[in-house]
Amino acid sequence: KVYEDEHIATKKVAKRIADLIRRKQDNNENAVLGLATGATPIEVYGELIRLHKEEGLSFKNVITFNLDEYYPMLPDAKQSYVKFMDENLFNHIDIKRENIHIPDGTLNKDEITDYCLAYEEKIGSVGGLDLQLLGIGRTGHIGFNEPGSAPNSGTRLVTLDDLTRRDASRDFGGKENVPTKAITMGIGTIFKAREIILMAWSKKKAPIIKKAVEGEISGNVPATYLQLSDNVEFILDKDAASEL
Ligand code: GLP
Repeated sequence: KVYEDEHIATKKVAKRIADLIRRKQDNNENAVLGLATGATPIEVYGELIRLHKEEGLSFKNVITFNLDEYYPMLPDAKQSYVKFMDENLFNHIDIKRENIHIPDGTLNKDEITDYCLAYEEKIGSVGGLDLQLLGIGRTGHIGFNEPGSAPNSGTRLVTLDDLTRRDASRDFGGKENVPTKAITMGIGTIFKAREIILMAWSKKKAPIIKKAVEGEISGNVPATYLQLSDNVEFILDKDAASEL
């Protein structure tokens, strides 16, 4: 779906999330959301905060799982996704702290495999993801599933692509300070979500959106795997869609 601009697109996505949360509330069920970081979803989170404050949308029945976290990363570091989510969403809504899950960037190396399996199990134990939000990196990564990721991959420790580290360098004051690794949900984890929404705004994303939507399905551009799913929607502004 292509919208005139990202603000209109953002409102549509936030409304979809709010409707899901309310529908679940009406049935006394939890809404299980897979959340993304990066600049792309910030305005969606802003709109959800507005709906909470002005229209009484409650997040008490919401359980969240974030896609990824840098590794290593302390939760209170400026660039951590824990901090990002607190500042851009969680600190402003009534979500229960125990319902928030973000991959742990402080683990010892030998704890990571078990932790990742447990992360997957936890998603399963609450009924699976109702909705997964995605951005897209210029390498075609979703979450931090870089080129080379397998379509059935699970949550795991990955090595970041050089372009991804370059794109993150501003946040870290230089590429050399960007961690070389991350913990991310896998492509297989993302695929299990009942609905997937990938958002992209601006001309900068137009070439990778063209590859993701129209390119050959290949591990070289992990987002092309989304072509294989019936539950995926790309929500774009005109600029991101300009090469389609
Ligand atoms: C990071 C995140 C991804 C995100 C990507 C794009 O790499 N791990 O989940 O999609 O950035 O970021 P932005 O939305 O800032 O373009």
